[in-house]
Amino acid sequence: MTREEAHERMKELSEQIEQHNYNYYVLSSPTITDYEFDMLLEELSGLEKKYPDLAGPDSPTQRIGGQVTKDFKTVEHKYPMLSLANTYSRGEIEAFARRVRKSIHNEVHYVCELKFDGVAIGLTYEKGSLKLAATRGDGIHGDDVTVNVKTIRSIPLKLRGNYPDNFEIRGEIYLPLKRFREINEARIKKGEVPFANPRNAASGSLKMQDSALVARRGLDCTFYNLLGPSLPHDNHYDNLREARKWGFKTSEHISLCKTTDEIFDFIDHWETTRKALDFDMDGVVIKVNAKQQQEALGYTAKSPRWAIAYKYKAVQGLTKLISVSFQVGRTGAITPVANLEPVQLAGTTVKRASLHNADIMRELDIHLGDVVYVEKGGEIIPKITGVDASRRPKGSSAVRFISTCPACNTPVIRKEGEAAHYCPNNKSCPPQIKGRLEHFISRRAMDINSLGEGKIEFLYDQGLVTRISDLYDLDFKDLFGLEKVIPANKEKKEKKISFREKTVKNILQGIEDSKSKPFERVLFGLGIRHIGETAAKKLARYFGSMEKLSGASYEELVAVDEIGDKMAGAILEYFNDSENQQIINALKKHGVQMQVMKEEKGSDVLHEKTFVISGVFEDHSRDDLKEMIEKHGGRNVGSVSSKTDYILAGKNMGPGKYEKAKKLNIPVISLEEFLSMLNT
Ligand code: IVH
Repeated sequence: MTREEAHERMKELSEQIEQHNYNYYVLSSPTITDYEFDMLLEELSGLEKKYPDLAGPDSPTQRIGGQVTKDFKTVEHKYPMLSLANTYSRGEIEAFARRVRKSIHNEVHYVCELKFDGVAIGLTYEKGSLKLAATRGDGIHGDDVTVNVKTIRSIPLKLRGNYPDNFEIRGEIYLPLKRFREINEARIKKGEVPFANPRNAASGSLKMQDSALVARRGLDCTFYNLLGPSLPHDNHYDNLREARKWGFKTSEHISLCKTTDEIFDFIDHWETTRKALDFDMDGVVIKVNAKQQQEALGYTAKSPRWAIAYKYKAVQGLTKLISVSFQVGRTGAITPVANLEPVQLAGTTVKRASLHNADIMRELDIHLGDVVYVEKGGEIIPKITGVDASRRPKGSSAVRFISTCPACNTPVIRKEGEAAHYCPNNKSCPPQIKGRLEHFISRRAMDINSLGEGKIEFLYDQGLVTRISDLYDLDFKDLFGLEKVIPANKEKKEKKISFREKTVKNILQGIEDSKSKPFERVLFGLGIRHIGETAAKKLARYFGSMEKLSGASYEELVAVDEIGDKMAGAILEYFNDSENQQIINALKKHGVQMQVMKEEKGSDVLHEKTFVISGVFEDHSRDDLKEMIEKHGGRNVGSVSSKTDYILAGKNMGPGKYEKAKKLNIPVISLEEFLSMLNT
């Protein structure tokens, strides 16, 4: 392929990819599979690596991210980013309509829209290209988050159709609820503090320094306002419809209304239907449709007079804060928890609510004895959303975040860029030790369920186990005859757990059985910070043994698919610690799996051979092929280099890869040839 041909192909690929993005993210009707889509993107990125000067700033490969920003530049908004007048009262919606009618003597049409609960963003386009993405900031100045915003697939990098030369479009970036739950589950599994709600997760994601990480968060964006000197229509509704044709995702849930009754119908409909949406919204925005009427109504210092937001009341209750406790997790992360006078919320009694972190506590300015608002939203744990400071008892003191660990008194630390505080005493802080033991025996790790129901905690309290490897030293006489008493409380009577013969045998058998759990579970069970189940699996497959993994360098670690800087750092730190090495040696001595077993491993016929997969395979997914390679001792990498041994090529192999392979004399093999290698 000549340079000119490559350039043509790159343009063609960019257009195709953006069309598929539009089909998928804006129209919600994809016409190709994710796999085919990835193939196109991969081909383009291959060509861009070869001809970096031909890669434009609008290239869809920008969506993969990669650029790292230390400090976001401050930019001035061309049009101030105002907020909306808010109300919870229908009476005020009627008053708003009366005010509008009083100033406008003609007929007024209103547009009703959903009020998205995310982070406001303003995008500037020039000649069809995205030039700037700015957050709201103080309304006058915002942060330039363009690199991060470019990774959001529903945001067009290049426009289509008949768009104005210069304009700004505003919308809301949010995290779809499914992604929010997935991210939080993963954070909890890794011992990290979960995000308080999807909005915080979205705003945190948007400000991440590494745009490749932003790309993986799965943010979405819906647009609701256009600004500029030459918009196509004289009204908001038609302009938004036009924007959809240029490639923007606008809401389908939008309605033109003529009367307040129609407005209330829209409000009522969404009050119940909103639960079925896959994103958070907290109300309805009502806007005067005609631009001319908007201009006539004008603005206050803070918000337009032509719009108002009606907010739905959250499931909220008022109660009293009794105290705040600080919980220490297995990785040392500290979570402040409010203990409340019990309050009924949406059918359940709430006694505890999360206060999330020191910043949120400070923002709330919470005092002991305060009357607080508790809300139960889509989140896992109820949260405190506000404080009624007017009802604060005299002389009550502000709740401060602890400066030392509540369990072991070690001064707490806060890592740069993280919201959570940690207790750094991972060696002897009891909740961390207990948390590690509990994690090790948990279902997804070693699955020693005969030690559940608090028995492991009891064994720790008895001084029988502190390190995970101590479990394997336990014998019958250590356990037989022990008795654990769970004291009575308001709800439950006293309970006694006796370690009789059967219990003890079960425990010892469970521990014995755990020795045959696969290496990836052992690795997950170690509880290395940031290493969840998936990462453990990837590492186990890639390195094959504890020995290889523990000796791996930073570069070798980050070469593994999905292992990033944070994880690599945590792994190095873990294996650098002599106590951890002792634990691993002890586990090994006891016969716990320290390598991928032969059955799992298939054979070693591809011993350390490096493969690059390219093109489309009819009967095999790319993940299947990767798994086969690794199972037989080979390695799979993303790009062709002089170290590549084979290219496994399917249909439509990327031309960039093909040329590079030819130049480097790397054999390009078919699927059949690959399968026959496995059979020898
Ligand atoms: S219009 C001048 N429409 O709510 C007003 N805003 O409280 C322009 N928001 O800053 C905003 N959904 O972040 C508008 N359909 C919608 C919205 C919406 C959510 C947010 C936006 C705005 C805030 C105002």
